[in-house]
Amino acid sequence: MKTASPFLEIESGPRVDVTWEGKTLSLPEGSNLAAALLAAGVEVFRHNPVSGAPRAPFCMMGACFDCLIELDGVTRQACMLEVSEGLVISRPSEQGGA
Ligand code: FES
Repeated sequence: MKTASPFLEIESGPRVDVTWEGKTLSLPEGSNLAAALLAAGVEVFRHNPVSGAPRAPFCMMGACFDCLIELDGVTRQACMLEVSEGLVISRPSEQGGA
């Protein structure tokens, strides 16, 4: 299946359903969550709380925090998580900024 994402999926195998911002996505089970979301076409993971600028994964190694998502009410780094069945994830709650 072709997506609008500039990223290619290099893994094949079982896929599982996860919910992103209320929409069901079928992602490769066990793959890196940030990479899988990018490959599925997700371009904005969060917004900068000060400027409102859109942010997306940059370092893919837990250093930049640009991949923050909300999972079960907790803000987490998507690049440090694996895809598993039934994840319900969203952009972190936006907090006011200047
Ligand atoms: S992409 Fe940098 S911390 Fe996740």
